[in-house]
Amino acid sequence: SQAPIITLDGPGGVGKGTISALLAEKLGWHFLDSGALYRLTALAAINHGVSLKDEQAVALIAEHLDVQFVQNDTVTHIVLENEKVTEAIRTEEIGTSASIVAAYGRVRDALLKRQRAFAVMPGLVADGRDMGTVVFPDAPLKIFMNASAQERAKRRVKQLQQKGLLPDYDTVLADITARDERDQSRSAAPLKPADDAILIDTTELSIEQVLDAVLEAAQQRA
Ligand code: C5P
Repeated sequence: SQAPIITLDGPGGVGKGTISALLAEKLGWHFLDSGALYRLTALAAINHGVSLKDEQAVALIAEHLDVQFVQNDTVTHIVLENEKVTEAIRTEEIGTSASIVAAYGRVRDALLKRQRAFAVMPGLVADGRDMGTVVFPDAPLKIFMNASAQERAKRRVKQLQQKGLLPDYDTVLADITARDERDQSRSAAPLKPADDAILIDTTELSIEQVLDAVLEAAQQRA
Protein backbone atom coordinates (compact mmCIF):
# COMPACT_ATOMS: atom_id res chain seq x y z
CA SER A 1 0.00 0.00 0.00
CA GLN A 2 1.03 3.61 -0.48
CA ALA A 3 2.54 5.47 2.46
CA PRO A 4 0.80 8.73 3.40
CA ILE A 5 2.92 11.84 2.84
CA ILE A 6 2.86 15.36 4.27
CA THR A 7 5.03 17.87 2.41
CA LEU A 8 6.40 21.03 4.04
CA ASP A 9 7.96 23.56 1.70
CA GLY A 10 9.14 27.12 2.15
CA PRO A 11 12.16 29.41 2.16
CA GLY A 12 15.24 29.04 4.37
CA GLY A 13 14.95 29.92 8.04
CA VAL A 14 11.17 29.64 8.13
CA GLY A 15 11.22 26.84 10.73
CA LYS A 16 10.30 23.93 8.45
CA GLY A 17 13.06 21.75 9.86
CA THR A 18 11.87 22.17 13.43
CA ILE A 19 8.20 21.70 12.54
CA SER A 20 8.83 18.69 10.26
CA ALA A 21 10.93 16.90 12.87
CA LEU A 22 8.32 17.50 15.60
CA LEU A 23 5.51 16.42 13.29
CA ALA A 24 7.32 13.22 12.24
CA GLU A 25 7.99 12.42 15.89
CA LYS A 26 4.40 13.08 16.88
CA LEU A 27 3.00 10.89 14.07
CA GLY A 28 5.74 8.25 14.34
CA TRP A 29 6.51 8.75 10.65
CA HIS A 30 9.76 8.91 8.68
CA PHE A 31 11.36 12.26 8.00
CA LEU A 32 13.07 13.50 4.84
CA ASP A 33 15.33 16.53 5.16
CA SER A 34 15.82 17.05 1.42
CA GLY A 35 17.97 20.15 1.92
CA ALA A 36 20.56 17.89 3.56
CA LEU A 37 21.00 16.05 0.24
CA TYR A 38 21.83 19.31 -1.56
CA ARG A 39 24.15 20.31 1.28
CA LEU A 40 25.84 16.87 1.09
CA THR A 41 26.28 17.19 -2.66
CA ALA A 42 27.93 20.61 -2.19
CA LEU A 43 30.20 19.32 0.60
CA ALA A 44 31.20 16.22 -1.39
CA ALA A 45 32.02 18.39 -4.42
CA ILE A 46 34.17 20.71 -2.28
CA ASN A 47 35.92 17.72 -0.63
CA HIS A 48 36.74 16.28 -4.05
CA GLY A 49 38.06 19.60 -5.34
CA VAL A 50 35.20 19.92 -7.85
CA SER A 51 34.26 23.48 -8.82
CA LEU A 52 30.64 24.30 -7.93
CA LYS A 53 30.43 26.03 -11.31
CA ASP A 54 31.06 22.75 -13.14
CA GLU A 55 27.51 21.42 -13.57
CA GLN A 56 28.50 18.09 -15.13
CA ALA A 57 31.15 17.30 -12.52
CA VAL A 58 28.78 18.25 -9.66
CA ALA A 59 26.06 16.09 -11.22
CA LEU A 60 28.43 13.09 -11.20
CA ILE A 61 29.05 13.74 -7.50
CA ALA A 62 25.27 13.77 -6.85
CA GLU A 63 24.77 10.59 -8.86
CA HIS A 64 27.39 8.74 -6.79
CA LEU A 65 26.70 10.31 -3.41
CA ASP A 66 27.79 7.84 -0.70
CA VAL A 67 25.64 8.87 2.26
CA GLN A 68 24.00 7.14 5.20
CA PHE A 69 21.43 8.46 7.63
CA VAL A 70 22.13 6.63 10.88
CA GLN A 71 19.25 6.73 13.33
CA ASN A 72 20.48 6.76 16.92
CA ASP A 73 17.66 7.08 19.45
CA THR A 74 16.17 10.49 18.62
CA VAL A 75 19.10 11.91 16.63
CA THR A 76 20.00 11.10 13.05
CA HIS A 77 23.68 11.16 12.20
CA ILE A 78 24.68 11.89 8.65
CA VAL A 79 27.67 10.00 7.29
CA LEU A 80 29.31 11.03 4.02
CA GLU A 81 31.94 8.64 2.65
CA ASN A 82 32.51 7.19 6.15
CA GLU A 83 32.88 10.61 7.75
CA LYS A 84 30.34 12.06 10.19
CA VAL A 85 29.22 15.40 8.75
CA THR A 86 26.04 16.04 10.77
CA GLU A 87 27.27 19.47 11.92
CA ALA A 88 29.64 20.26 9.06
CA ILE A 89 26.79 20.56 6.53
CA ARG A 90 24.89 23.11 8.67
CA THR A 91 27.13 26.11 8.09
CA GLU A 92 25.91 29.17 6.14
CA GLU A 93 28.71 28.58 3.64
CA ILE A 94 27.47 25.07 2.83
CA GLY A 95 23.89 26.40 2.70
CA THR A 96 24.89 28.91 0.06
CA SER A 97 26.91 26.25 -1.83
CA ALA A 98 23.87 23.95 -1.67
CA SER A 99 21.68 26.58 -3.31
CA ILE A 100 24.22 26.86 -6.15
CA VAL A 101 24.28 23.11 -6.92
CA ALA A 102 20.49 22.89 -6.41
CA ALA A 103 19.96 25.04 -9.51
CA TYR A 104 21.36 22.27 -11.75
CA GLY A 105 18.65 20.09 -13.36
CA ARG A 106 20.92 17.05 -13.55
CA VAL A 107 21.69 17.32 -9.83
CA ARG A 108 17.98 17.51 -8.99
CA ASP A 109 17.26 14.46 -11.21
CA ALA A 110 20.02 12.48 -9.50
CA LEU A 111 18.51 13.14 -6.08
CA LEU A 112 14.89 12.47 -7.08
CA LYS A 113 14.90 8.67 -6.64
CA ARG A 114 16.80 8.89 -3.38
CA GLN A 115 14.14 11.25 -1.99
CA ARG A 116 11.18 9.13 -3.16
CA ALA A 117 12.72 6.08 -1.45
CA PHE A 118 11.87 7.71 1.90
CA ALA A 119 8.14 7.29 1.25
CA VAL A 120 7.56 4.09 3.21
CA MET A 121 5.04 3.00 5.82
CA PRO A 122 3.78 4.19 8.19
CA GLY A 123 4.24 7.58 6.48
CA LEU A 124 6.60 10.41 5.56
CA VAL A 125 7.03 14.05 6.49
CA ALA A 126 9.07 15.65 3.67
CA ASP A 127 10.83 18.99 4.20
CA GLY A 128 12.20 21.11 1.36
CA ARG A 129 11.54 23.53 -1.48
CA ASP A 130 9.86 21.32 -4.10
CA MET A 131 8.38 18.45 -2.06
CA GLY A 132 4.79 19.31 -3.02
CA THR A 133 5.49 20.51 -6.57
CA VAL A 134 7.99 17.99 -7.95
CA VAL A 135 9.08 15.17 -5.65
CA PHE A 136 5.68 14.17 -4.17
CA PRO A 137 3.07 15.87 -6.39
CA ASP A 138 0.37 13.41 -5.24
CA ALA A 139 0.83 14.01 -1.50
CA PRO A 140 -2.59 14.42 0.14
CA LEU A 141 -1.41 17.21 2.44
CA LYS A 142 0.91 19.99 1.31
CA ILE A 143 1.97 22.86 3.53
CA PHE A 144 3.82 25.95 2.38
CA MET A 145 5.33 27.96 5.23
CA ASN A 146 6.46 31.53 4.88
CA ALA A 147 7.67 34.40 7.07
CA SER A 148 9.23 37.79 6.43
CA ALA A 149 12.94 37.75 5.59
CA GLN A 150 13.59 39.92 8.67
CA GLU A 151 11.86 37.44 10.99
CA ARG A 152 13.69 34.50 9.40
CA ALA A 153 17.02 36.31 9.81
CA LYS A 154 16.18 36.95 13.49
CA ARG A 155 15.43 33.25 14.02
CA ARG A 156 18.59 32.17 12.22
CA VAL A 157 20.69 34.54 14.35
CA LYS A 158 19.19 33.05 17.51
CA GLN A 159 19.83 29.52 16.24
CA LEU A 160 23.48 30.33 15.46
CA GLN A 161 23.93 32.03 18.84
CA GLN A 162 22.65 28.89 20.55
CA LYS A 163 25.44 27.03 18.76
CA GLY A 164 27.93 29.42 20.37
CA LEU A 165 28.52 31.51 17.23
CA LEU A 166 28.48 35.31 16.94
CA PRO A 167 26.44 35.99 13.78
CA ASP A 168 25.93 39.47 12.35
CA TYR A 169 22.23 40.18 11.67
CA ASP A 170 22.81 42.18 8.48
CA THR A 171 25.05 39.48 7.01
CA VAL A 172 22.53 36.76 7.86
CA LEU A 173 19.69 38.82 6.33
CA ALA A 174 21.73 39.39 3.16
CA ASP A 175 22.46 35.62 2.93
CA ILE A 176 18.79 34.77 3.35
CA THR A 177 17.70 37.29 0.72
CA ALA A 178 20.33 36.06 -1.76
CA ARG A 179 19.34 32.43 -1.19
CA ASP A 180 15.61 33.27 -1.60
CA GLU A 181 16.39 34.99 -4.88
CA ARG A 182 18.37 32.02 -6.20
CA ASP A 183 15.79 29.45 -5.07
CA GLN A 184 12.85 31.40 -6.58
CA SER A 185 14.40 32.43 -9.88
CA ARG A 186 15.96 29.13 -11.01
CA SER A 187 14.26 27.29 -13.87
CA ALA A 188 14.63 23.79 -12.33
CA ALA A 189 11.98 23.32 -9.61
CA PRO A 190 11.83 26.94 -8.38
CA LEU A 191 10.60 27.59 -4.85
CA LYS A 192 6.84 28.14 -4.99
CA PRO A 193 3.73 26.72 -3.33
CA ALA A 194 1.94 23.83 -5.04
CA ASP A 195 -1.52 24.83 -6.35
CA ASP A 196 -3.14 22.69 -3.65
CA ALA A 197 -0.83 23.73 -0.80
CA ILE A 198 -2.11 25.23 2.45
CA LEU A 199 -0.25 28.49 3.16
CA ILE A 200 0.88 29.29 6.68
CA ASP A 201 2.54 32.63 7.46
CA THR A 202 4.60 31.96 10.58
CA THR A 203 5.95 35.50 11.10
CA GLU A 204 3.81 36.05 14.20
CA LEU A 205 3.42 32.42 15.28
CA SER A 206 5.23 30.32 17.86
CA ILE A 207 6.47 26.80 17.08
CA GLU A 208 3.51 25.34 19.01
CA GLN A 209 1.03 27.46 17.06
CA VAL A 210 2.49 26.38 13.72
CA LEU A 211 2.49 22.74 14.77
CA ASP A 212 -1.17 23.05 15.83
CA ALA A 213 -2.08 24.63 12.49
CA VAL A 214 -0.40 21.79 10.58
CA LEU A 215 -2.03 19.09 12.73
CA GLU A 216 -5.41 20.74 12.24
CA ALA A 217 -4.88 20.76 8.47
CA ALA A 218 -3.84 17.09 8.64
CA GLN A 219 -7.09 16.19 10.39
CA GLN A 220 -9.16 18.11 7.84
CA ARG A 221 -7.49 16.47 4.83
CA ALA A 222 -7.40 12.96 6.31
O1 C5P B 1 16.70 23.70 3.61
P1 C5P B 1 18.17 23.93 3.50
O2 C5P B 1 18.61 25.29 3.95
O3 C5P B 1 18.96 22.85 4.16
O4 C5P B 1 18.48 23.82 1.95
C1 C5P B 1 19.71 24.25 1.41
C2 C5P B 1 19.53 24.63 -0.06
O5 C5P B 1 19.20 23.47 -0.81
C3 C5P B 1 18.36 25.58 -0.32
O6 C5P B 1 18.74 26.95 -0.25
C4 C5P B 1 17.92 25.22 -1.72
O7 C5P B 1 18.65 25.93 -2.70
C5 C5P B 1 18.27 23.75 -1.84
N1 C5P B 1 17.10 22.87 -1.74
C6 C5P B 1 16.38 22.65 -2.88
N2 C5P B 1 15.33 21.78 -2.86
C7 C5P B 1 14.97 21.16 -1.73
C8 C5P B 1 15.68 21.41 -0.54
C9 C5P B 1 16.75 22.28 -0.57
O8 C5P B 1 16.66 23.22 -3.92
N3 C5P B 1 13.96 20.31 -1.75
